[in-house]
Amino acid sequence: MISDAKKEEIRDAADIVDVVSDYVKLKRSGSGFTGLCPYHNEKSPSFHVSPRLGIFKCFGCGESGDVFKFIMDQGGLNFNEALRTLADRFGVYLPQEQSSYEEQVIEQEKEGILHALKFAGVFFYRSLIELDEAHKARSYLEQRGYGGDIIKQFGLGYAPTSGQALIDAAQLAGIDPLYLSGGDLVKQRTDSEGMYDTFRGRLMFPIFNPTGKVIAFAGRVLGNEKIAKYINSSQTKVYNKSEVVYGVNFSKNQIRKNKEMILVEGYTDVISLHQHGIDNVVASSGTALTPGQLGTLHRFGDTLTMIYDSDAAGQNAMKKGILLALEEGLEVKLLELPDGEDPDSFVKQFGKDSFDDFKHKNSQDFVDFLIAKAATEGRLEAPISLAKVINELIEAVAHIPDTIQRQIYIQHLHQKTQKYRKGTDHELFQELDRILRHRAAQKERVQQRERNQKSVNRYGFNGVNSQLVRTSPEVLGYEHSIHNSENEMRFSALDDMHVKGDRLGTMSNKKVSKPHYEKELIRIMISFGQEMVGYVGTLANEKLFEDKELRLFYLDIIERYKAEQSFGVEHYSKQQSPYPELVGDIFLEIHTASTRHHEKTGVEFKKDKDPYRSVKGCLKALEINYFRRKRAELAEQFKSADSSIKKEIVALQSEIQKKITDREQRDSEELYPDPVSKKVENQSPKKFHYVMKKDRKKSK
Ligand code: CTP
Ligand code: MN
Repeated sequence: MISDAKKEEIRDAADIVDVVSDYVKLKRSGSGFTGLCPYHNEKSPSFHVSPRLGIFKCFGCGESGDVFKFIMDQGGLNFNEALRTLADRFGVYLPQEQSSYEEQVIEQEKEGILHALKFAGVFFYRSLIELDEAHKARSYLEQRGYGGDIIKQFGLGYAPTSGQALIDAAQLAGIDPLYLSGGDLVKQRTDSEGMYDTFRGRLMFPIFNPTGKVIAFAGRVLGNEKIAKYINSSQTKVYNKSEVVYGVNFSKNQIRKNKEMILVEGYTDVISLHQHGIDNVVASSGTALTPGQLGTLHRFGDTLTMIYDSDAAGQNAMKKGILLALEEGLEVKLLELPDGEDPDSFVKQFGKDSFDDFKHKNSQDFVDFLIAKAATEGRLEAPISLAKVINELIEAVAHIPDTIQRQIYIQHLHQKTQKYRKGTDHELFQELDRILRHRAAQKERVQQRERNQKSVNRYGFNGVNSQLVRTSPEVLGYEHSIHNSENEMRFSALDDMHVKGDRLGTMSNKKVSKPHYEKELIRIMISFGQEMVGYVGTLANEKLFEDKELRLFYLDIIERYKAEQSFGVEHYSKQQSPYPELVGDIFLEIHTASTRHHEKTGVEFKKDKDPYRSVKGCLKALEINYFRRKRAELAEQFKSADSSIKKEIVALQSEIQKKITDREQRDSEELYPDPVSKKVENQSPKKFHYVMKKDRKKSK
């Protein structure tokens, strides 16, 4: 977490004119600068930047904000990413304590992988341009009409056939092979020692994240060999397939301006459309479109025009995509190309103007599109198939989150089908209601199941051999202290940790400072009261705490919560050691971090804007660290275990590793359910602050 003071330091250091200039051509005008607004399309400049005030404003569309907002919007970054990017760029030092040690290790590994991927991108590009053996690839690109500019813009490349070329080049450049394999650029040989290049003898398409970093590759065959046309990098720590859309980095600015994006299937479709000046295009990359991908797109625009290949596979994929896009709340349009065409071939033959014109005249909303499809399939004639078509359409409408939009589409559907059926739109609305109720009930059931599973199984290892359970109860024997079942709290007996203590816990106390996420979790529980403790209790478990004192603190809060006793700062400051010290440690840290800011603004605890979010972040760190400790314990056990147990331990290790990877790769928002109600019963942090000062005076 980055302190407010740091944030202000970054704001002071960042030159807003410099940042905006990356996206907008600015001209000096008076004390500020003007240019064409990147938030909307315009011919004459109404976008103003004031370096003195550190803000921008567009007098055309009204968009305004500071340097953080600008780079978040235009760079597609979240707030933390924006802070880090700007800190990096303007040389503001962000201290290491900002994240836990584990988080730093993860970050470093990702950096290493990204570096290796970037190296590979340059290597493939140079191979394409320079190597003799790449002439086949060069003439292929030439024959497809891709010249030097396009090759450079999209970073196309060539992977040499040898299977060692990238590895060797990377070794010369001092790149750690671990990062190469972490980016799925090389693979382990199965028959002998060593590694080989993942991509061999293929035309290479780098896949970028929205900020333009290479995160993966796709390699296309060059000849007509009967092998996979494309091979793609597998999922890695920097490449989450289900959320990546090809081309976002190239198209996001235009998408923001148009508020519209075109979704195609293939890499070459994106490239050819760009080449012809249509630059709000992205590709789902052949795989079935996922909700995650649509979520990514929704960050940039609201309207999605799908233009898939005209073959059966393309058309079916488009139909499936409709439902997902509606569900995401996007406005969906569909365009069917003439038989045998894909966007690439179409724009190459007919050019931009014809493409725009064709799109303008033939794009349909999903109701029109699906009815037209049904008509060509002859499904509007017989009553039974007609009823089925109408039901499918109502089903599609039911996916739309917005009530008014649903009504409009139902009426639209009614008008479109009037000539095939008698009756009013009443029956259609009735059917919609029925489907909505059904969906809601289903969703509730799924959520309930997930909630139960999350709270019961979060730390449970499934399918573990009971022998091992017996041999190492320490490793496995743990269960939730609280879990949420059918919304009813239940507390299981506490284990024996009071008596026994914990090897790791004892070891880590006093000398080493306490993990900040453990302190932070306690702080939030104390600060936000009942609801919050209930929420944390359903997800956490005392065993997650590495620090013994904090673990006892956690348990005590839970115990007091159960007994409906107060557990505020006031209470704990008056208890015997170590509570007063712990309270000081936990709460004072926060104050020192933002004293200056507090003095300036009178606003405290700004970081608690969304305490549930903070809690989720802490939980993630707690879990990752917990599993890492368990992994270490298992490794220790492995050394002295006899061979019959060893296999079990390995299986267990891999199960734990899976859990670690899972937590590492997913956002905490996704990992943990939202509380039933997000009500925050803030026990007024101000008051705590006051109480603490008073207490300190008293104790003097
Ligand atoms: N695709 C894939 N693996 C395959 C085939 C296709 O990942 N074996 C994905 C690629 O993202 C590809 C998209 O599906 O871009 C569309 O497939 P296709 O139309 O066959 O390829 P194009 O990219 O259009 O290639 P080309 O224009 O050279 O035919
Ligand atoms: Mn294609």
